[in-house]
Amino acid sequence: MQVFKSLEQWQTWRAQLDTADGQSLGFVATMGALHAGHSSLIAESKAANSHTVVSIFINPTQFDQAADLSAYPQPLEQDLELLEELQIDAVLLPDSEQIYPDNYRYKVTESELSERFCGASREGHFDGVLTVVMRLFNLVQPTRAYFGEKDWQQLELIRGMVAAFFMPVAVVGVKTLRAQDGLALSSRNQRLSKEERKLAPIFHQILKTAGSTDSARQQLDAAGFAVDYVTEAVFDHKLRRLAAARLGTTRLIDNISIDTAKQAMLHE
Ligand code: PAJ
Repeated sequence: MQVFKSLEQWQTWRAQLDTADGQSLGFVATMGALHAGHSSLIAESKAANSHTVVSIFINPTQFDQAADLSAYPQPLEQDLELLEELQIDAVLLPDSEQIYPDNYRYKVTESELSERFCGASREGHFDGVLTVVMRLFNLVQPTRAYFGEKDWQQLELIRGMVAAFFMPVAVVGVKTLRAQDGLALSSRNQRLSKEERKLAPIFHQILKTAGSTDSARQQLDAAGFAVDYVTEAVFDHKLRRLAAARLGTTRLIDNISIDTAKQAMLHE
């Protein structure tokens, strides 16, 4: 596994890969603090591509709160050990100066979906996400790029950006990986206290079983979550229920298909 801190060295490596000759490059963008959810994206990439590259970059432009950025876990050594075990080909570890040589004067902005749901309370968040993903795509030039359904709105916006700018990459969505108790795996879960971690799976449970978004919101309030939003929206002709809530200082997000919710209600 090659670890690239220098983008020039990365670009030399990338130039050697001959995608015209049947080689393909799968790409998994991350902010580190890797867990089994990230590993599942990497496994899909490895299964479909001759080569896989993972980036670890805690992207400052997508954090709307400085405290959230400074508290973001950074277990780099552990992450590199895991990636070594997963036998990927390359890791990109760029720094902010390399990714933002323009000091973020140039950015990608979407003006509808990005303003809703998570975007309504996190100003500039999705501009930051889209801008870094566009920059990473241009640097990596992947054949396929893998993103988790856990961050549904992010996945939709990246798909939309790739279509809008005719970007030559296939975006692949990967199912949300959950702990046995149903909690969606997330780097932020590490910040939950023991008591909060015990309570956290109720978030997904309520999302699945509540008869309406209002009822879900009430149940979450009563269980001690500070609800940001619970909503239902249609994506590609299919209805999804999406929610974000704070447990203590940790923000949790999740989403499910409404079919899943209906099945759960039938089994109640
Ligand atoms: P990060 O939170 O590190 O997530 C990296 C990728 O892993 C994202 O595509 C995310 O949706 C996926 N992922 C996280 N938890 C998952 C789970 N439980 N199951 C399946 N996939 C999961 O998302 C980001 O980083 C950043 O916004 C990034 C895209 C890297 C841009 O900075």
